[in-house]
Amino acid sequence: MKSFVSKLCGKIMPLSLKEYREHGGFLGLEKALFYMSPQEVIDEIKESRLRGRGGASFPTGVKWQLVAAEGDEEKYVVCNADEGEPGTFKDKALLEGCPFQVIEGLMISAYAVGAYKGYIYIRGEYPNSIDLFKKAINILKKEGYLGENILGQNFSFDIEVRSGAGAYVCGEETALIESIEGNSGSSRFKPPYPPNCGLWGKPTLVNNVETLANIPLIISQGAEEFLKLGTKGSKGTKLISVSGNVVNKGVFEVEFGISLREIIYDICGGLEGNKKLKFIQVGGSSGACLPELLLDLELDFDEFKKHNIGIGSGAILVVDDSCCILDFMRVTTEFFKHESCGKCTTCREGNRHIIKAIDRMIYGSGTERDMQIIKDIATIMRDSSLCGLGQAAPIPVLSLLKHFKDEFQEHINGYCSTGVCNFKGEGK
Ligand code: NAI
Repeated sequence: MKSFVSKLCGKIMPLSLKEYREHGGFLGLEKALFYMSPQEVIDEIKESRLRGRGGASFPTGVKWQLVAAEGDEEKYVVCNADEGEPGTFKDKALLEGCPFQVIEGLMISAYAVGAYKGYIYIRGEYPNSIDLFKKAINILKKEGYLGENILGQNFSFDIEVRSGAGAYVCGEETALIESIEGNSGSSRFKPPYPPNCGLWGKPTLVNNVETLANIPLIISQGAEEFLKLGTKGSKGTKLISVSGNVVNKGVFEVEFGISLREIIYDICGGLEGNKKLKFIQVGGSSGACLPELLLDLELDFDEFKKHNIGIGSGAILVVDDSCCILDFMRVTTEFFKHESCGKCTTCREGNRHIIKAIDRMIYGSGTERDMQIIKDIATIMRDSSLCGLGQAAPIPVLSLLKHFKDEFQEHINGYCSTGVCNFKGEGK
């Protein structure tokens, strides 16, 4: 394990500005405001090669540059704290462990791109985080860290907390923007991307909590220090949320380059009851399901990409061999069916039809054609849905079809080796 971005979580009182400052808090902001131009801040972030920690791993400095390049018009910065991916709870650790660090990151980003107003969009299911942030913002206003001419410099900035009402799609940046504007959360077509046209049509920088929490450290210590961590293509550390059939579940900070096997067996203590591993799902419910033979894969954006998979939000679900693949797939797809905003046909209808085909398999009338239907619909959804929700919902489906074809065949033959489905092991 490595302690970098989360090093203050659990070490200081979350709302003690004094303790945060004693541990190097606001040194990054001070360095930026007193000694660096906005462009120098962006260059430092580019040099660090920090990539977004929300799921898409887009280069952070490049995104900042796009917003800065929009000139002098009104701009916004947004912290996406709507981590709704099932099995993902790593941002919560930062939100509740060190709110000032996240806010400092947002302030530095605002200074760099030329924004005077920021929003922190926190999921409604995190009432403690919402409460903490409101209190933290009030403390910072009193102490002169927010408001007009911060620290006596020519930089004014204010932050508002907004919260979601439980819709998964509002974590998607354009649906989140709609929600902040007061509309119901449904995704917009991209392009235009928020860096060019976001909140109220203005250039908007949206960054994930963990991405922003890295910023104060990169600016105060310099990109060079950050570059010492991780692999060639994936610099720094990653917070992972591990759940499922492992002994030690929770949030862990690891350096990029660690293998999935090391995470599961060394950090998480292996499987509960020494059961056999069936698969792990990386990146939350919208992530790929990987069989044991891929356990030596290193946590690295590019290594994962070689296998056509993503690290996503960093959620890792460990599943033992008592799980029925079709049952698992049904639960996952049901979630996406429920959360689809309904705007695009492929996502709205696709999940529904996949569930119908799964049900035929689970209840004994499934055929080879159902397997093909699932594959075809999942492929169309992946390639043509409007936003990340519809594009990612079929990823677990396609990966399970790829790695566990035999188990689908088993169900077509009227048999469920795990005993989860209703055939009583009799066969057709
Ligand atoms: P994306 O690839 O469309 O965009 C990533 C970021 O880069 C966005 O901020 C986008 O505005 C920006 N960007 C990309 N191309 C751009 C361009 N040409 N010009 C300007 N800006 C550009 O991915 P998206 O839909 O934002 O995120 C998908 C990921 O979100 C998935 O990988 C999934 O793992 C993750 N996710 C995370 C969740 C969580 O709870 N943390 C929940 C659901 C999904």
